[in-house]
Amino acid sequence: MMKKKIGVVFGTRPEAIKMAPVIKELEKHKNQFETVIIVTAQHREMLDQVLHVFNINPTYDLNVMRPKQSLSDITVNVMKGLEEIFLDEKPDMILVHGDTTTSFAAALAAYYQQIPIGHVEAGLRTYDKYFPFPEEANRQLIDNLADLFFVPTELTKSNLLKENKSEDQIMVTGNTAIDAIQYTKQLNVNHELLNTIQGYKKPILLTMHRRENHGEPMKQVFKAIKRVVNEHEDVVVVMPVHLSPVVQELAKEMLSGNERIILSAPLEVDAFHKILSKSYLVLTDSGGLQEEAPAFDIPVLVLRDKTERPEGFTAGTLKVIGTEEEKVYQSIEQLLNNQVLYNKMAKADNPYGDGTASQIIVNTIKKYFNK
Ligand code: UD1
Ligand code: UDP
Repeated sequence: MMKKKIGVVFGTRPEAIKMAPVIKELEKHKNQFETVIIVTAQHREMLDQVLHVFNINPTYDLNVMRPKQSLSDITVNVMKGLEEIFLDEKPDMILVHGDTTTSFAAALAAYYQQIPIGHVEAGLRTYDKYFPFPEEANRQLIDNLADLFFVPTELTKSNLLKENKSEDQIMVTGNTAIDAIQYTKQLNVNHELLNTIQGYKKPILLTMHRRENHGEPMKQVFKAIKRVVNEHEDVVVVMPVHLSPVVQELAKEMLSGNERIILSAPLEVDAFHKILSKSYLVLTDSGGLQEEAPAFDIPVLVLRDKTERPEGFTAGTLKVIGTEEEKVYQSIEQLLNNQVLYNKMAKADNPYGDGTASQIIVNTIKKYFNK
């Protein structure tokens, strides 16, 4: 096989975490692949934290992030920036991840130049285009443009087959989030929060950022959290607050001033994984955390009405509870008080693979070019 140039494009924290293992794997095959790493920096600080932990130096950095950026801002700036890079570099394939606006804009920019597209974490669906918004539309649009579909599970494969995608373009890989955990596990982590939570029997890790949860849903969840903390002295809540100004403002307004609710800056992913591993319970609307927490045997209460990750629900490791105050409060209470139920969720199997997703992805790309 002639050496192929692979452009890996990403821009936000979760994409970086889940693409880093793929980059590491591509770099092990330097005789077959030249890797061009293109970051859009849709996220700035939160992306840089991941690049630091995985020691990745981008070839190009579009630096698009603006305060309170709109979806159109991101789309336009990413597409214009990538057009130039793709014309200069002429990659043989680009890889994008998941469902962010960076990934959608990158896929569209590649399509315009007829560059083959590999979609990592393809096939996730809620089939409700406003939930999550705009991620459901982004991933469906990317899957309409992609040439290779790296799906994490059999269920995500079946979604694509129902949409008439051809089986020989789909590869079940597991989720690269598990590969990322295997990397961070090897690192030596020290963080003051690890000492802080040690003093409590039931640390709860909370993250929330989704656009559809901005405003009232977040307020409802925060009220429930305060009730739980007031009623349980063995509970401490740790919330690394996403840098979105909307989230920052509300979290500070509603949750500061309680010594058992700790609001921290976003954590580097190795420290975050360590704190996750020491938590009693996770409360989140994040996608990635629904995949990671089961790998650490930690139950997850999902602060959304729908999930595109029903595998975790079927396995028993997560519960989708929405954002209504009373429901959130009761669901947390149940897991704090009912040990049988807790153990059942904690011990359920992680449905996202064994950490070899990146290897499978790179082998599949080799085969694609060897046909
Ligand atoms: C984005 C993705 C979402 C993903 C999430 C992961 C889209 C439309 N949304 O949502 O799918 O789940 O990332 O976190 O692609 N900001 C900073 N520094 C940072 C990061 C963000 O200041 O490092 C602030 C900026 O003011 C920015 C705002 O947060 O304008 C929102 O960022 P944006 O990427 O537009 O949306 P997210 O909610 O982060
Ligand atoms: N994460 C992190 N530091 C934090 C919070 C989360 O490194 O302070 C990691 C987490 O381990 C997961 C990813 O960020 O891998 C989830 O990102 P986010 O919730 O921003 O996005 P989503 O997964 O919802 O797209």
